[in-house]
Amino acid sequence: MNPKYRILVTSTSFSKVDPLPMQRLRESGCEVVENPLKRPLRENELRPLLGNVDGVIAGLDEFTRGALTDSKRLKVISRYGVGVDNVDLKAAKDLGIKVVTTPEVNTQAVADLTFGLVLALSRMIPQADQSTKSGNWGRYIGRAVHRKVLGIVGLGRIGKAVAERAKGFSMRILAYDIREDHAFAKSAKIEYCPLDTLVSTSDFISLHCDLNPRSKGIIGARELNLMKKTAYLINTARGGLIEEESLYEVLRNGKIAGAGLDVYLNEPPQESPLLSLDNIIATPHIGSYTHEALLEMGLGAVDNLIRNLETR
Ligand code: DGY
Repeated sequence: MNPKYRILVTSTSFSKVDPLPMQRLRESGCEVVENPLKRPLRENELRPLLGNVDGVIAGLDEFTRGALTDSKRLKVISRYGVGVDNVDLKAAKDLGIKVVTTPEVNTQAVADLTFGLVLALSRMIPQADQSTKSGNWGRYIGRAVHRKVLGIVGLGRIGKAVAERAKGFSMRILAYDIREDHAFAKSAKIEYCPLDTLVSTSDFISLHCDLNPRSKGIIGARELNLMKKTAYLINTARGGLIEEESLYEVLRNGKIAGAGLDVYLNEPPQESPLLSLDNIIATPHIGSYTHEALLEMGLGAVDNLIRNLETR
């Protein structure tokens, strides 16, 4: 039987933990074109691959206007994940390409990693691990998490899931968002406040907003210099939310205690001076990387893709 659709899969972790999403894609009548470079594709690498496909299971590649220009056949970009900052939504709309995402399914995984970074930073777990394994028995003195102040920037799905975890540590929770959910804040005893108040009061600041022109660099030199010397910054959302050069300066000068980063301005952040600092914990954009979340994201991305192709 001739395949109904030709589908490009750019995401490198799609169907990696379980064959089911790929099976479902093929059983739905799709011929699969794989990402030849096995990493997120740049505009010029993506453009020729988009020329002859009906849909994409899309990772964190550069879906710019330039990349989409020759994609006459393309109908659906199905993001394997929730962020769409790597897709030019205006260009997609102009070209009649539908963009869909898999919200909900990676919320708990990202919230778990966020809290892992809170604990790893405050108790210096990576340093203690290294010290013990190298025979040094360095008994690091950390800082408490219990009853401290957590500032959540972006109280959406993931921010709320982080707040639920923080409740278990009896933390006081502050939040800043352009849209306020007063019912949730009241039930979870979360206090909304201006960003300046949040950054200057919190012991842990965690970022959970989308990256868009308004939120780009939301944590810049000004905000970083308002932070307490003993405070930690955690980012499991998008690298562009932080001005990285300013973050490097405040960390290097000990103006804040540390940072836990899962996302970067450029990924991978090979040349970033941030990686040379002892007071950061760096992970490679693994917020969604649990077996459970990746399977759900894979199935969700396939279902979204097929449903939208069939109804066009
Ligand atoms: C997301 O959901 O956008 C994650 O960053 C993985 O792509």
